[in-house]
Amino acid sequence: MLDKIYITRKLPEEIVEPLREKFEVQMWHSEEKGMTYEEIKTNAKDAHALWTMLSDNIDRALIESLPNLKVISNFAVGFNNIDIEAAKEHGIVVTNTPGVLTETTADLTFALLLATARRITEVEQEIRSGNWTSWSPMKYTGMDIFGATLGIVGMGRIGEAVARRAKGFDMNVLYHNRSRKLDAEETYGFTYAELDELLKQSDFVILLTPLTPETKGLIGERELNLMKESAAIINVARGGIVDEQALYDALVSKKIWAAGMDVFEQEPVPIDHPLLTLPNVTMSPHIGSASIRTRLAMMQMNAKDIEAVLESREPQNRIV
Ligand code: DGY
Repeated sequence: MLDKIYITRKLPEEIVEPLREKFEVQMWHSEEKGMTYEEIKTNAKDAHALWTMLSDNIDRALIESLPNLKVISNFAVGFNNIDIEAAKEHGIVVTNTPGVLTETTADLTFALLLATARRITEVEQEIRSGNWTSWSPMKYTGMDIFGATLGIVGMGRIGEAVARRAKGFDMNVLYHNRSRKLDAEETYGFTYAELDELLKQSDFVILLTPLTPETKGLIGERELNLMKESAAIINVARGGIVDEQALYDALVSKKIWAAGMDVFEQEPVPIDHPLLTLPNVTMSPHIGSASIRTRLAMMQMNAKDIEAVLESREPQNRIV
């Protein structure tokens, strides 16, 4: 009997086909519509490998309901959607897709930074709704990126790639991280700062830290109050790192100038979410890694790692 792989979203056949030669592969029928928790539990019940999306909640109960499971391979670098401890306890390997998405996610981060600073989505909407009636000296003005201070919270691979781009824009780069990056400080001239100091000094704060119990709610009312009134905050990491109610209040009371968000506490963000009513919030639908080339490369990584574990070899991107 062949080992069984269950894939929780419809993926391109060119990626899946080679796995079909060695394993029994079952895949959810839709690319657009994800699976519910119960659907994963039922459909993957005898799976040896589970290929998951960042939108799937793979908690302890789900892991414990899949007796054959040997590997969970997550289509993302982040893995806050998986109970890693439970997987470890049950000897289940968990893999992710680091490295391959670094530059693509840094590009999106920079796009969101520029769009937020120059109000790109807001002013486009002005054109589309017929409100652009004359050229105006000050009406659609934003903030300069060049020469501004950028504060990066979470200086991992993606943080460094963003900081390198920032140098090309003559930005002054501060960063906060669990550990100092002395090599990067020396090579690129980035400066380490405590979180409060970074928040006080930065014109743009970019969040790139993983979501963990320590970083949940890292940026709340107190932290937003430390920021400049002219500053913007950009979250491309995970919803939940910023307290969205506190962010809404800070934007409405003009304690900060703007926000750019690729990620939300609840995804897709509900259409009646208060942040959607604010013109100074620039948004994208969790597309950090979403270039065609990178998404296909991420899938290849997942496929290879699943194959490795099922063939009793060491996967390349093992978390536990
Ligand atoms: C990931 O892969 O974890 C990121 O959210 C990229 O979008």
